[in-house]
Parts: sequence; C-alpha cells; structure tokens
Amino acid sequence: MVKKNACIFISGKGSNLKNLIGRSRDYNFPISIKLVVSDKKEASGILHAKKNSITFLIINTKSRNYENILLKYLRKHKISLICLAGYMKILPKKFLRNYGKKIINIHPSLLPKFKGLNTFSRILKNKEKKTGCTVHYVDEKLDNGKIISQKSFFISTKDDEEKLKNKTQKLEYLVFPESIIKIFQNN
Ligand code: GRF
Repeated sequence: MVKKNACIFISGKGSNLKNLIGRSRDYNFPISIKLVVSDKKEASGILHAKKNSITFLIINTKSRNYENILLKYLRKHKISLICLAGYMKILPKKFLRNYGKKIINIHPSLLPKFKGLNTFSRILKNKEKKTGCTVHYVDEKLDNGKIISQKSFFISTKDDEEKLKNKTQKLEYLVFPESIIKIFQNN
C-alpha cells in the first residue's frame, strides 16, 4: 500500500505519538510518520522521534510568522495529514487556511462536552456517568470540528482525575489509529 506522509504535533509526554509510531509500522496502516513537531524543546515525547530516527522540529510559537517555517517543513516532507497529539497551542488561522490538508486532534472527553483544558476535574465535578475520548477534524474554533470517532466508558465512584486520565488514554490508543484508518478509507 502507498502510505500517506504524516506529521505529529506534541507538547508533552507523547504516549499517543509512541503508539502511532508503533501502529505505522504495520504494512496495512495508511500513514508513515515523517515529521514530529513540538512547541516545547523539553517535551519528553521528542525522545520517541529520536529513537525512531524521525525528523523533529521545535517551533517557537512566539516568533513572528513561525507558521511559514512550519509550512515549509510540511511541504518539504510532503505531509498530507497532521495529527495533534497533546499539542497545547492553537494553530493560527492563517496556517489552517494555507495548509489546506487534513488536520485532526484527539481530545480527552466526549465532545462536544468539555472542550478546552482541565477536562477530568470538570467531568468529575459535573458528576458525569460516562466519559471517553474523541478524534475530530480541526477547524478555527477550539475542539470544534467534525467528529471522526469516539469511544466511551462508565465512570466508577472510585475514579479520581488520575484514574480517569489512565482509562481515557487507554481508549485514545485505540481511537486515534482507528480514526486514521477511517479517514483514508474513503479517499
Ligand atoms: C491526551 O490525553 C490527549 O487527549 C490530550 O493530551 C494528551 C496527550 O497525551 N489532547 P500524550 O502526550 O500523547 O501522552
């Protein structure tokens, strides 16, 4: 199969990146990860790029027109899918308009519920019965674009923030790869 070139954006631990690198080794998985972008030079997830000899780019989101550097790299590596995997910055509108290819994000809630930060504490405070994770297309609003896939689980009375996070991340490792397969099934 001819794989599409993908780029993963991170800001932290990169456990989703690690999982996607593993999955991308499957012959039948539709993407090959050619580039990792981090807005934080200390993000431990960069190690996964290093270990797997994947080119990585640290961007300074405070520098003017940094999106032009980003676009240059994405074109150079012929990237046709960007996966935001724990990337904590909002992509500039100018970048979204100029990139023009697929960008997807993973969010640790059942969107449209609990957009934004501190999801687990808000879920507990709201006494939700169920939670989960969502992969969606990125548009100009936060955690807003068309939903590709979701998975959920029932919250137990024993769940604290840490437990919710662990349970959610286990589902993320399934939902992210499944969503990538899904979006390339139709084109
Ligand atoms: C994930 O839980 C994701 O839902 C959120 O950020 C977290 C990133 O975790 N957007 P990791 O860096 O992939 O371990």
